[in-house]
Amino acid sequence: MNGISRLATVITLASLFPLNAHAADSKGAVEVVHWWTSGGEKAAVDVLKAQVEKDGFTWKDGAVAGGGGATAMTVLKSRAVAGNPPGVAQIKGPDIQEWGSTGLLSTDTLKDVSKAENWDGLLSKKVSDTVKYEGDYVAVPVNIHRVNWLWINPQVFKQAGIDKAPTTLEEFYAAGDKLKAAGFIALAHGGQPWQDSTVFEDVVLSVMGTDGYKKALVDLDQKTLSGPEMVKSFAELKKLTGYMDPNRAGRDWNIAAAEVINGKAGMQMMGDWAKSEWTAANKVAGKDYLCVPFPGTEKAFAYNIDSLAVFKLNADRKGDIAAQQDLARVALGKDFQKVFSVNKGSIPVRTDMLGDMSALGFDACAQASAKDFLASDKSGGLQPSMAHNMATSLAVQGAIFDVVTNFMNDKDAAPAKASAQLASAVKAAQ
Ligand code: BGC
Repeated sequence: MNGISRLATVITLASLFPLNAHAADSKGAVEVVHWWTSGGEKAAVDVLKAQVEKDGFTWKDGAVAGGGGATAMTVLKSRAVAGNPPGVAQIKGPDIQEWGSTGLLSTDTLKDVSKAENWDGLLSKKVSDTVKYEGDYVAVPVNIHRVNWLWINPQVFKQAGIDKAPTTLEEFYAAGDKLKAAGFIALAHGGQPWQDSTVFEDVVLSVMGTDGYKKALVDLDQKTLSGPEMVKSFAELKKLTGYMDPNRAGRDWNIAAAEVINGKAGMQMMGDWAKSEWTAANKVAGKDYLCVPFPGTEKAFAYNIDSLAVFKLNADRKGDIAAQQDLARVALGKDFQKVFSVNKGSIPVRTDMLGDMSALGFDACAQASAKDFLASDKSGGLQPSMAHNMATSLAVQGAIFDVVTNFMNDKDAAPAKASAQLASAVKAAQ
């Protein structure tokens, strides 16, 4: 059974239960399920909360801790099965289509607001297609994250005698050797499946290029998944794992980011939500920290678009529906798009802002990200992130996560065996 029918079967049960009636204590209330719980992420989501409250609605925070969102998605599914979904939830990529097919997302709520605010004109087609179900908006996209970044503490580099950011895998390993020799953690990392696969997809992009990445992790081509370039990717992943702290198991991504911020570690491979932690610590891009594309991925942009999906509410919950609409209107507004991305580390999703980043006051990392986003959209380098739910169903993603994490935790694991396992695990999950 594929992911869609699996989710649909489970969710059909939800129709046995009535949706929760809710007594609004203001103009209306909106509960938002999300996983923005680190210091920097919280600062970002608080901007949305404040604006919705200013507009006279009640914000019910449905935060579920856990980077990458796997726990939040489990909570969301069980709430849907119990007939008690929230008004709005952070759902991304192809998963939006799965939820759309259950009939639980609203195809009506965003109709007027999307027309009045000209969403079709503001968003690139790639983005609007992701957040529409059968032609109707069912989610509002809030930002664009780039996943293939390397974060560097230049003070630590200096102390280890490294004078420039690495641009090739060889330079990366050379920098890692110097950092280790100087007593630093070379590569800060948290041993959680989504973080392991974030690193894995960077390595695949570096070794196989954007075409190979697309064939393997987007098109799920069996030959490419088990082919020589994938074997090489696993071999590089193994080498790279040797630069991570052996005590990394279970560590949250923001704790790993703090190790770089506090000068214990030299580098972190992480999407640009990591910047939210630097910003929250009052550090300045280009001065206190460097952001560079992971070596070998300069022409690629692995994108990850956060979006907030809107659930269907009973028609008599007029105030709550108005709250959903207000949140969606705010989320794509120019002011919010700027403040949210400044705090979150991302770039706006509105195309009319991406060409204007320096005038809008965005920092060096955000300016580079927007420039690379626009260029890679033309060159074919713009690819959906597998690790961040943008490329595959959650079932296929879970199968990839298992193979990658097992490989990284087994020092005797063989690259050729891992790529064969990857191909068969993906096939079984499809
Ligand atoms: C989300 C980001 C979030 C990160 C860490 C990603 O999948 O897209 O918004 O900051 O996970 O939790």
